Amino acid sequence: MAKTIVVSNQKGGVGKTTTTNALAVNLKARGFRVLAVDLDPQGNLSFSMGADTENSATIYDVLKGELKTQFAIQRTTLADIIPSNILLSSVELEFTGNEREYLLKNALHPLESMYDYILIDSPPALGILTVNAFTTSDYVIVPMLSDIFSLQGITQLFETIDRVKTFCNPNISMLGILLTKHNPRTRFSVEVKGTVDMISDSYQIPVFETFIRESVALREAQSLQHSILDYAPKCNAVIDYKNLTDEILGKGL
Ligand SMILES: Nc1ncnc2c1ncn2[C@@H]1O[C@H](COP(=O)(O)OP(=O)(O)O)[C@@H](O)[C@H]1O
Ligand SMILES: [Mg+2]
Repeated sequence: MAKTIVVSNQKGGVGKTTTTNALAVNLKARGFRVLAVDLDPQGNLSFSMGADTENSATIYDVLKGELKTQFAIQRTTLADIIPSNILLSSVELEFTGNEREYLLKNALHPLESMYDYILIDSPPALGILTVNAFTTSDYVIVPMLSDIFSLQGITQLFETIDRVKTFCNPNISMLGILLTKHNPRTRFSVEVKGTVDMISDSYQIPVFETFIRESVALREAQSLQHSILDYAPKCNAVIDYKNLTDEILGKGL
């Protein structure tokens, strides 16, 4: 039975896609069977993992019920992925049925024995796509930048997860807040780390011990569609993502 992890934060640019990509390649490198699911209409994860989004089936076709989920999987050199493209953005208006929170869960259910980990990248919003991702997932990772604006909106995110837990998915739990693009040398980052720790105390949410440092190589690897492990194995952020993988596996997942 696959464990399903969603990487979510309604803010853009906090490292959701990068984290999903990095965990996919790291878990695959450890020998696990990994499926990445791109649930962001921007299709950044699909691009960074080398998936075709123009002429192939996407998660949109699957959610519409027009295609068996298996047929939307692409096997790239990085990992298996179900891609997305801009068509997915119409979901909010298009899917109005009363079971609409469960579309993704029902779609991924037949794949549960095929994979050890299903990793879901989510869009920068708390709409129906993100609610579908929460309804499907066992665990949530929340990447956050170490700047003060990151703290705004975090309450709405936790409230949305709580609501999904109450109404759609009692099994969901928070794996942790992950500080990304972190520069521990700046005073600002130190202050924000303190604030994040406070949030974590008041909401009873763990913060990963590992934080992800800023590295240009990470951006380059993604734009070249290379695995970060091959492209820059010694770069700080790549080492950090390896450590994050250890930390997650160490939690017994
Ligand atoms: N640790 C990092 N160091 C440097 N650049 C990063 C790092 N993490 C992410 N980036 C870059 O920051 C941008 C936003 O990251 P991304 O993962 O796309 O965020 P999101 O999916 O939350 O919008 C991308 O250009 C990405 O390559
Ligand atoms: Mg993204």
